[in-house]
Amino acid sequence: MDTANNEKKMAALEAVKEIKDGMTVGLGTGSTAYYAIHAVAELIGQGMNLKTVPTSEQTKQMSIELGIPMVDINSIDSLDVTIDGADEFTQNLELIKGGGGALLREKIVASITKKQIIITDSSKMVHQLGKFKVPIEVIPMACSYVMRQLPAIGGIGLVRKKKDKDYITDQGNLIIDADFGLIEHPAVLDEQLNKIVGVVEHGLFIGLAHKVIMIKDGEAITFSA
Ligand code: 5RP
Repeated sequence: MDTANNEKKMAALEAVKEIKDGMTVGLGTGSTAYYAIHAVAELIGQGMNLKTVPTSEQTKQMSIELGIPMVDINSIDSLDVTIDGADEFTQNLELIKGGGGALLREKIVASITKKQIIITDSSKMVHQLGKFKVPIEVIPMACSYVMRQLPAIGGIGLVRKKKDKDYITDQGNLIIDADFGLIEHPAVLDEQLNKIVGVVEHGLFIGLAHKVIMIKDGEAITFSA
């Protein structure tokens, strides 16, 4: 296993230590969350009683294959713990997420989670967000309107493609990846993006993470809110 994957796995194994019998657990999306999902399946295999909520169709499919019990998010008020990855994070626990396209469900799950744990390899930590483009999920009919609004708030957007076709989210929406350069005030940009009609959600996660676990040189480094 290469270093990045080794770090992802180690971070996942560290995070699942926070899961206790009887908890409701949010399961993230992506190559780091993958290791957490497997670790959760192992806990269940050892007899732990857990309910889970997947943050994407991809994670839902994995959960079905691994025999992980799921619960309808609308039947619960909160989740105890969610373990998810990120594309970038700062020591203030500001994140950019959505590289894997699951930002909307990830943000809904994070919003009702008591302890949101982000797991990463050592490449994801930054002093200032913005090298990774901010994914913005938009209603298809609003796509060019939203693209035209971005320069006024300092951004340039590109509609995400997959195999030369528009990338379609689990909700049937499009994603605009927007370059804002280094983001001076993520909370301000968060509000500006939320005000654009047609934006369903975006990948700036401000005030949602409670803990980041990053592995560097074989050691777990934890950042807490
Ligand atoms: C998906 C996400 C992922 O958490 C993020 O893209 C990180 O993915 P990976 O663990 O594969 O690097 O936000 O929408």
